[in-house]
Amino acid sequence: MSRFQALIYDRFMRQSEEACLRAWRAELLSPLTGDVLEIGAGTGVNLEHYGTNVTRLVLTEPDRHMRRRLVDRVEVGGGGVEVLGAPAHTLPFPDGSFDALVSTLVLCSVADPAAVLAETRRVLRPGGRLVFIEHVAAEEGSSRHRWQRRLEPVWKLLADGCHVTRRTDLAIARAGLDIETLERESVRKALPIVRPSIRGVARRA
Ligand SMILES: C[S@@+](CC[C@H](N)C(=O)[O-])C[C@H]1O[C@@H](n2cnc3c(N)ncnc32)[C@H](O)[C@@H]1O
Repeated sequence: MSRFQALIYDRFMRQSEEACLRAWRAELLSPLTGDVLEIGAGTGVNLEHYGTNVTRLVLTEPDRHMRRRLVDRVEVGGGGVEVLGAPAHTLPFPDGSFDALVSTLVLCSVADPAAVLAETRRVLRPGGRLVFIEHVAAEEGSSRHRWQRRLEPVWKLLADGCHVTRRTDLAIARAGLDIETLERESVRKALPIVRPSIRGVARRA
């Protein structure tokens, strides 16, 4: 991301955050306990939702402009959170290190979602959970899906490699994670091509 994109990210997202994303983040993240890893933490919008039952919190963010804003937010919150630059397909942790891994609006942007989900499965303990909020492809054959396909090449250039036609629920299942809860809902106040979304929890058996 450019310095400018990192600067405007929170402002660009504000309306959708207020309309729905903030509530979805709270609902999914506040119950988490134990050791938690968040990938692609961006500017740190999820930080306010982690509760006191999280014993270790590690945030990764490979983009240096986003990471600078993330570090600022962690410091304002009093520290106690580890911040790393590692990309999500090569996480510097032994197998089975975490009780939960959080991915919000990240699997659209990574170059290789299958590699990231394999790495997710590896670092989760047996019984550990992937918690996700992701925007995804619209229903196959719908006019929104046709627009997503038309606009994706340009959108990827404008939005740092963000894909709008990914079937992330299928990718999660293919990675060997058992989907426990899955909600499909439109991201309100977002651009139409990034409105279809999934959120939920998947468990490593
Ligand atoms: C749309 S932002 C989402 C930020 C934040 N998670 C949120 O919910 O608002 C996508 C983030 O994914 C990060 N990202 C892109 N490729 C990544 C990768 N391979 N590994 C980890 N994070 C990545 C970007 O740097 C960016 O901060």
